[in-house]
Amino acid sequence: MKHLLSVAEMQRGDVEELLELSAKFAEVLDRPIPKVPTLRGRTVVNAFFEDSTRTRLSFETAAKRLSADVMSFSTKGSSVDKGESLRDTVETLEAMGVDAFVVRHSSSGAPWQVASWVDASVVNAGDGTHQHPTQALLDCYTMRPHLESLEGRRVAIVGDIVNSRVARSDIDAFTLLGASVVLVAPPTLLPRHVATWQVEVSHDLDPILPDLDAIYMLRVQMERGTGPRLPSLREYAARYGLDGRRARLLPEKALIMHPGPMVRGVEITPEVAALPNAVITEQVANGVAVRMAVLFTLLRGGAP
Ligand code: CP
Repeated sequence: MKHLLSVAEMQRGDVEELLELSAKFAEVLDRPIPKVPTLRGRTVVNAFFEDSTRTRLSFETAAKRLSADVMSFSTKGSSVDKGESLRDTVETLEAMGVDAFVVRHSSSGAPWQVASWVDASVVNAGDGTHQHPTQALLDCYTMRPHLESLEGRRVAIVGDIVNSRVARSDIDAFTLLGASVVLVAPPTLLPRHVATWQVEVSHDLDPILPDLDAIYMLRVQMERGTGPRLPSLREYAARYGLDGRRARLLPEKALIMHPGPMVRGVEITPEVAALPNAVITEQVANGVAVRMAVLFTLLRGGAP
């Protein structure tokens, strides 16, 4: 594998292999010195053209735990503000010696463009409303020990589906591993072509809850223009937010997940985010091992 751009481009075996490798790197992270020399001499650049906390720092940590050199680029304070193009920017970075680009961009498809311009490997760290493959991998990795397997499991993804690259990657990954997915959202937050997706759709959250193995709450993405699609945030929270009453309708062991950042009090209440079956912090922690597995696979291949 040279690039990791989309779950839709992966086979089930690719996902399984990355999850197994992630478990090996999780063992490394449990050591007193959580570092291996595997990618010594390699350079990873985090090229973030859109804001991020978790993904950027998680990739940076993963690369450092593998002993790679890390360059961090973000548009704020860069020559992008002077009008430099995406192509000129990545070619400039590559001229400094880069083995892997980790790219986040607000335009869907930007990582594919980058991959066509550079010789280095490219990882999609989230492009527009399109894909966020490492989020999906870390979500599957987090779910498996709790649910044993995703085969036959039922997962609800709730909220701003239309703008969610996480939803698109998770639907691909969960169904690839044998789970069934139900999307729960108001009609205005669903894409027009949702009927062509391999999912069930519901506009009503409460009746779905008792039959779930996991519920995945999404943030309302105001920065992508979701505001006008809703009568009000208060009404949205009342109909689709996961509060204590709704959490009690879930089976006791059903996982509560969120990719972050959370907007507490809208899609999830603070008390629900703190429940023992809420694995939101675990998702973040697992992101490092999963991204180590991804960088290792792209830059070294084979068993660690
Ligand atoms: N889940 C996620 O992509 O978070 P960030 O935007 O903080 O990276």
